[in-house]
Amino acid sequence: MAFKLHTFNQEDRYRDYGEWSQEYIESLNDLAAQSPWRNHFHIEPKTGLLNDPNGFSFYNGEWHLFYQYYPFGPVHGLKSWYHLTSKDLVHWEEKGIGLLPDNALDAHGAYSGSAVADGEDLRLFYTGNVRDDQWIRHPKQNTITYNPDKGGFSEKQLIIDEIDLATDHFRDPMYFTAHDHSWLVIGGQRVSDNKGTLYLYRAETTHLDQWTFHSELPIAQADSAYMFECPNINQVDGKVFVTFCPQGIDRDQLAYQNIYPNAYLIADAFTPDGQLENPGKLYNLDYGFDVYASQLINAPDGRVLGVSWLGLPEIDYPTDAYGYQGALSLIKDFRIKNGHLYQYPVEEMLALRQAPIHFSENITVEKNAYEYAFEVFANQEATVYLYADSDKKHFVTLSINTIDGKIVLDRSDMGASFGAEFGVSRQLTLTGQENVKVNVFVDESVLEVFINDGAYVLSSRIFTADEQQKNIFAEGTDNNVIYPLQK
Ligand code: FRU
Repeated sequence: MAFKLHTFNQEDRYRDYGEWSQEYIESLNDLAAQSPWRNHFHIEPKTGLLNDPNGFSFYNGEWHLFYQYYPFGPVHGLKSWYHLTSKDLVHWEEKGIGLLPDNALDAHGAYSGSAVADGEDLRLFYTGNVRDDQWIRHPKQNTITYNPDKGGFSEKQLIIDEIDLATDHFRDPMYFTAHDHSWLVIGGQRVSDNKGTLYLYRAETTHLDQWTFHSELPIAQADSAYMFECPNINQVDGKVFVTFCPQGIDRDQLAYQNIYPNAYLIADAFTPDGQLENPGKLYNLDYGFDVYASQLINAPDGRVLGVSWLGLPEIDYPTDAYGYQGALSLIKDFRIKNGHLYQYPVEEMLALRQAPIHFSENITVEKNAYEYAFEVFANQEATVYLYADSDKKHFVTLSINTIDGKIVLDRSDMGASFGAEFGVSRQLTLTGQENVKVNVFVDESVLEVFINDGAYVLSSRIFTADEQQKNIFAEGTDNNVIYPLQK
């Protein structure tokens, strides 16, 4: 029997996990295994849909990372948290589904949240999506602990119920510490004007299951948005920065082409009374096609580490035909230099580099799993063709003009087009007449471009038409080096 992907009406999407037949799951597994677009060193689901990274943390000598997960098809259904662990932020061990929506506190999904080591346990904070008979949403902010020596997960506990200040859009609790306190920043929509805002809660003691409303943290630079999803507050290099997803923000307030942006601003400080001191301009966190819901932590080793969902809400992806969707970015290290945010894959990624291959104009790679480093000297017009077939019928181009500073990523001819209604190219402008250094991380269906050590990033999903697309053509570039990446 040929497998037909389910149509997924509302009833299907919210069906209990236990109700899916073994036969269905096996055919979905078979279908997903046939995908030509499987990545080599990026996290992605075997079947079903991945969205936001959740619960990124260091606990018990290991890194923990979860993601929003719906196992039964490439749709947003009843969400759980899928669990992975790692010793080095590069090699991940799949632990299976961690947090299940199996309780009155999260009956319609265990939505996004964060985690932190708390004594002997890993403590998770997340939003329980709960809907009533009229399908009205009642967001619950919950906590649960995880400790493999105590048999896994504890009982779920409600920490913050619905509040009068926010509409039913109130979610994504993110843990951080400041001024000797633990805080949660939660995204939401203000009741009074239906605009996006942030809500701050503080733990007055060291008990992380007891939280008190502290204050609202409005962000004037994004006050046209109707909802702020997935906020983070991080401190690095003597500054504070806020990353979040201001849905519906006016394009005058932030220039972006994706359906929803992931944005950031830098401030001098987060004050004890919960305000940002000298908040700066709002910027795009990433200039590519597919970054959303990034989660960033102040890690115990002193770094700010972050990971993004390489995907966007409400977009169909070519892998949907194989019953799965979504991937996570590489783990990135965030720094602030001269008032500018830099993000770059963690240095642990260097372990995947194989012997360098130098080339001048073109090269055929063994597989699309490599880092490509090059430079464009001042006053050049350079173009690199990635994922190209030998007669340049299909390809992705990255153009770097160091006369006027313009950088353009174009995926109009990649092969398996998608999301074209939001445009097929993305661009940004640097100061002209300066050398530009580029590091490109290419995986089978992920492209992450880092300009000038991560001063600007363009991250995108790329889907080729066939396996001939393994050539690189470089025009106007210098010092071209390929490092095959092998896990
Ligand atoms: C962002 C988001 C979050 C929510 C989660 C549900 O992509 O909408 O706000 O918690 O996804 O999967």
